[in-house]
Amino acid sequence: MKVTIDANKCSGHARCAATAPEVFELDDAGYAIPYDGEVPDGFEEAAREGAYACPERAITVD
Ligand code: F3S
Repeated sequence: MKVTIDANKCSGHARCAATAPEVFELDDAGYAIPYDGEVPDGFEEAAREGAYACPERAITVD
């Protein structure tokens, strides 16, 4: 599973990191850091929930 964060849509709501801190990190300004690589086994559901929590729909999971 791959996670993509659209930096142009991210507005720093931080709900992704609040919902799934094991998958999503924020930078010092509170914006999601682009995810680098495949989501580790066992974290797929957390990744989906974090993506769903974003009100800007800035996160896609494939
Ligand atoms: Fe950004 Fe959405 Fe997370 S706006 S900080 S990707 S909840």
